[in-house]
Order: sequence, then C-alpha cells, then structure tokens
Amino acid sequence: MGILLCPVCKSELNRNTRSFSCEKGHCFDIAKENYVNLLTGSKSGDLTGDNKDMARSRKAFLDKGYFSSLADALCKEISDIHPTTVLDICCGEGYYAEAVKSNCNTEVYGFDLSKEMIRLAAKRRCGAEFFVANMANIPIADGSIDCAIHLFAPFCEKEFLRVSKEGGYLISVCPGTKHLWEMKATLYEKPYENEKVSPTLPGFSLCRAFNASQYITLENTQDIEALFKMTPYYYHTSENDKAKLLSLGTLTTRVDFYIRIYRKD
Ligand SMILES: C[S@@+](CC[C@H](N)C(=O)[O-])C[C@H]1O[C@@H](n2cnc3c(N)ncnc32)[C@H](O)[C@@H]1O
Ligand SMILES: [Zn+2]
Repeated sequence: MGILLCPVCKSELNRNTRSFSCEKGHCFDIAKENYVNLLTGSKSGDLTGDNKDMARSRKAFLDKGYFSSLADALCKEISDIHPTTVLDICCGEGYYAEAVKSNCNTEVYGFDLSKEMIRLAAKRRCGAEFFVANMANIPIADGSIDCAIHLFAPFCEKEFLRVSKEGGYLISVCPGTKHLWEMKATLYEKPYENEKVSPTLPGFSLCRAFNASQYITLENTQDIEALFKMTPYYYHTSENDKAKLLSLGTLTTRVDFYIRIYRKD
C-alpha cells in the first residue's frame, strides 16, 4: 500500500504514468521535474513558504558542503535506526533528503510548503519522492513513518505524531546556543546566545539530545551573504551593522546544531 493520501478525500493515492489519483477520481499531475503538488486551495506555496530567491540561495550554499557535518551526523543516527521509510518534514531544497537517500538504504519522502523548494529538491533526481504540502495537513497515512526528520522548521506535533509508526523516531534539529557565534559577534556589539529549547512533545519521549559543532570558513562575501540570508538576523539588522559583515572577504564561524531524538510511545 502506498503511503500518500489524497489531500481532498484522504483515500490512498496511486501513482500513474503522469499523475497520482485516488479511487474517487481526484487527480494530481506529476510535474516535469518529478514532484507532485498536493496543496489544496488556490494559494501557491511560494506565497507562504520560502520564496524563489531564498530557495536558490539556500541550495547554492548547502551544496558547497558547509553543513556537511550535520548531514553526516543525521545519516549516522538514521542508519542506526534502520528505517524503511523516512519523511523529511519541511525538506526545503532537498539537501538532507538527498544525503539520507544516498547513505541510509531507505525510502525517502520529502515535502515543503514552497513549490520552488520542492522543484529544486526534485531536480536532484536522488531517488527520494518529493511533494508540495502543508505540515498542518500532511497527506501521508496514519502510522506509516519509521523516522521523520525535521530541520530548522516550524513544529506541528499533532501531525508528526499521527504519521509516525508506534516506536517510530522523530529527529529534530535547531540551532544550538553558539550557532554562528562569530557571525553574530561581527554584526552586534553584544551578541546573545540562542536559547536552548527542548520542547516536550505529547506522545513522544525524548531519547537523546546532543550538539554537533564545528568551525567553518566561508571563502567569499557571496557565501557570507548566503548564510546571513538563511538566518532571521538578515531581516532584523540595521544597514550599518549589515555592512560590517558584508565588507568581509572571508569569515570563520562556529556552526552549532542541537539534535534531539524522540521516539513515539
Ligand atoms: C529554514 S527552512 C529549512 C529547510 C530545510 N529543512 C533545511 O534545513 O535546509 C524552513 C522550511 O520550512 C518550510 N515551511 C514553512 N512552513 C511550512 C509549512 N506549514 N508546511 C511545510 N513547510 C513549511 C519553508 O518553505 C522552508 O523551506
Ligand atoms: Zn480523493
């Protein structure tokens, strides 16, 4: 049985040559890049998810390998779990989904609200299945996921719980307290550490939480700007402070990822 559900009537979706359809005749075309848009309603995901510029700049940055330590840590954890099915919730442009597909011998599904993110993810042709959807209403059957991953994205614990198998895992990653410390010290006179958050998730138990940290050196202003644009600071920093960072040709900064592994009770 497939795990994708029709977003309209919630019955099983089956793959045809150029579309997915359900028994009630709801039909969703497969785009030429090989993804399917399962958002209902007229709102384009790009109006609500990340926009085209953010998607392209994120892909260019991640493909240079600056966050490969996180991809490696994630793949190691997933390999230890031996899942059959991994779901990348809010997968963005697919960098981590591709790493998991290449290294972990599992089926991988990824979805995001942004159509451009999913278009770029699908263009990776990495063997993972990508679809556009809202995490508030994930078109995936109840109890069908062995391991869900969730990186730098908003939460919807009710849906995460519903799609997870009993005993299934949820790996959630957010910035650690010292993430991008040297970037922040360049921008601000008094940088603050990120708060350490470990939300309790009803229906899940926290098995383990740890940090994966390292220093990275950004080799040019373009990469510094791309990383800066991936952070909320970009939108809340004065032009004067921005100029301090963007006048640099190189920057060595700490990346600090806080990884939490939950298991469904
Ligand atoms: C900071 S990005 C992280 C992307 C990816 N996980 C990564 O680490 O590269 C957050 C992502 O969440 C997506 N997003 C935001 N709200 C969403 C929702 N309600 N449903 C699905 N995706 C959503 C955005 O479009 C964006 O791609
Ligand atoms: Zn249907």
